[in-house]
Amino acid sequence: MELQRRVNLKPYNTLSLNVEAAYFVAINCLDDLRQARKFCHDKCCPWLLIGGGSNLVLTQDFEGLVMLMAMDQVFWPVEKEKQSISKTFSVNAQAGYEWDLLVAESVARGASGLENLSLIPGQVGAAPIQNIGAYGVELKHCLELVQVFNFDTGDTFELAAKDCEFGYRDSVFKRNRSWIVTQVQFSLTYGNQPQVSYGIIADTIMSLSGELAANASPQQVRDAVIHIRRSKLPDPKKVPNVGSFFKNPIVSDSQKQKLAQQWPGLVAYAIDGKGHKLAAGWLIDQLGWKGFKQGDVGVHEHQALVLVCSGVATGKDVLDLAQTIKVDVAKKFGVTLEVEPRLFDNRGEFYL
Ligand code: EPU
Repeated sequence: MELQRRVNLKPYNTLSLNVEAAYFVAINCLDDLRQARKFCHDKCCPWLLIGGGSNLVLTQDFEGLVMLMAMDQVFWPVEKEKQSISKTFSVNAQAGYEWDLLVAESVARGASGLENLSLIPGQVGAAPIQNIGAYGVELKHCLELVQVFNFDTGDTFELAAKDCEFGYRDSVFKRNRSWIVTQVQFSLTYGNQPQVSYGIIADTIMSLSGELAANASPQQVRDAVIHIRRSKLPDPKKVPNVGSFFKNPIVSDSQKQKLAQQWPGLVAYAIDGKGHKLAAGWLIDQLGWKGFKQGDVGVHEHQALVLVCSGVATGKDVLDLAQTIKVDVAKKFGVTLEVEPRLFDNRGEFYL
């Protein structure tokens, strides 16, 4: 383990926030995690594990150990097994593997499962934590197993999908912050199994390839998703952002009913027996925030759910804007927005 002192974290968070870590180390194997754990224990210092840094707001220099997840191997079944193994197969990827690279490679092999989750920034290890989801598919649909290192106890263990308590942008990992995901096993299927219920996907497949959505290959679905994401969402490499800044709020059926009467265009999706999920982007958009700019922060011009910043903004600038939007939405719609990315100050995580 090679420990560094006072390392700037700007390259390691997609909001490009200019803060430092008191200590910094790249994690290349389980043994690095064990040594890092001992270091934090001996020094009595807090720790923070960074993956792609695409779901993180750092508001201050971090006075502890920042670990960069760099375990980045992926284990595909060998090609000659492809014929003999069943249509469904498992692939294992370590936590530091780039998410979209895994998706691209699965699609290139003709495998279905991950294609709707194309172009989501970040690494494999972050994916189960928030149960990443897009265009009608959530990670839980193809995840089999997660390998975990418990930073409190030093134990390693495996969790089956059914024990991950997956929900909308939620999992057991959000309630056990000392659990570090080290490897994830996915179940994929050779051949076309297009998930095209999300309206815009079918239309985009048809307009890009002339193919009927029901016959689309994983590559055609991936191309459509990439096309849509590029048209709506800013590339974090060019415009610092963390994707959706708020979760889509879930309200009761009666609250949805009341809101829909008042706001006829309200975008809401029924959830089985659990009320309705509202499109937070629509709520924020109605209040005129889309394209808003103030100083170094703003709201993306094509998607009101995404806050953007200039590259010199501070975490506080971003959170101040988020708070103002949250208050505005609560005042006009009576709906409480919940922040999606994780927030950290100098000693650890906090919540808005
Ligand atoms: N809408 C507006 N104005 C806006 C944004 C959205 O009117 O500024 C409306 C759209 O017209 C549409 C509805 O709201 O009718 C939903 O919009 P969209 O399809 O863009 O999806 P979303 O609910 O805003 C969620 C995820 C995204 C994911 C998309 C596609 C959350 C918090 N966000 O956004 O995930 O890509 O669905 O499945 O669930 C992310 O998590 O970072 C992310 C980008």
